[in-house]
Amino acid sequence: MDTNVRPETMERIRTKEQAEAFIAEQIAALRAQIGKGKVLLALSGGVDSSVVAALLLRAVGKQLTCVHVNHGLMRKGESEQVIDVFKHQLGANLVYVDATDRFLDKLAGVVDPEQKRKIIGGEFIKVFAEEAEKLDHIDFLAQGTIYPDILESKDGVKAHHNVGGLPESMTFELVEPVKLLFKDEVRVVGRALGLPAGMVDRQPFPGPGLGVRCLGAITRDRLAALREADAILREEFAGAGLDKKVWQFFTVVPDFRATGVRGGKRAFDWPVIIRAVNTVDAMTATVPEIDWAVLKRITDRILSEVPGVCRVLYELSPKPVATIEWE
Ligand code: XMP
Repeated sequence: MDTNVRPETMERIRTKEQAEAFIAEQIAALRAQIGKGKVLLALSGGVDSSVVAALLLRAVGKQLTCVHVNHGLMRKGESEQVIDVFKHQLGANLVYVDATDRFLDKLAGVVDPEQKRKIIGGEFIKVFAEEAEKLDHIDFLAQGTIYPDILESKDGVKAHHNVGGLPESMTFELVEPVKLLFKDEVRVVGRALGLPAGMVDRQPFPGPGLGVRCLGAITRDRLAALREADAILREEFAGAGLDKKVWQFFTVVPDFRATGVRGGKRAFDWPVIIRAVNTVDAMTATVPEIDWAVLKRITDRILSEVPGVCRVLYELSPKPVATIEWE
């Protein structure tokens, strides 16, 4: 039997009871696979890796070591939440690596989006491999592979290995407990495992993170402005109930300045672009009409609270022709 094929008889997990049955089944399967072995997991804080971490913690506890690499391109509060939930609340073995300087130094002056992505991906593997080598013998590598990853890698759309590209000397057996689940099922399982709503309902966030939203060559000041503006957007959308109605929303900071006036003096600062989209599968997307008062409040807050910003724009481009992300 091909274990990468979802059996036709497998019910879609929609209820807490179904999720609990899945969890019990997986805990038994994980214990059988892992035995007394040691497991390593790259924990990004995204839904899939978080659910895998929570499942493994229940199944094998301290035999699991999670590594969270902060590449300096996380959203505000994200790494802190990973540490709080997994280390402090769930008691996981968690190695936290703040590699911000390492990533930002490598990215300095790099303008091309594809090159930026390659640097971020390549550096991630390096940092992760270095951390893995520091640990005692590891037998298994856990991954948050989900069923669409398997389907897409079968179609040749993308390689599904989340931490693909590890050095050949590092040979681990893979542990992929949610590989037959669709995203909505992973969320139901995450809720049943008691993960916080903010983590389970998290929007898609690209691996290269804010790196593809801080356009062109990333600078620390623009990155800081982007992170603050994004936090304000998230707070105000949540306050207006839009986080339940809009599929994905974020801010973008381009690499050019615009003229403004602040306190009677000329300003020459960055614009912030608000990007919000509704979609089913991210292949096409529409732009929702956002209440003017909400947009105005976000604009006022960004302009008064975020240093170095003098304009706020709302993007109207659907996909196609635009993609959801700018880079
Ligand atoms: P685009 O920009 O292609 O994005 O319309 C479609 C969806 O995919 C997300 N996205 C990524 N996710 N790694 C990811 O895990 C990436 O490099 C990446 N690039 C885009 C994007 O946020 C949107 O939801």
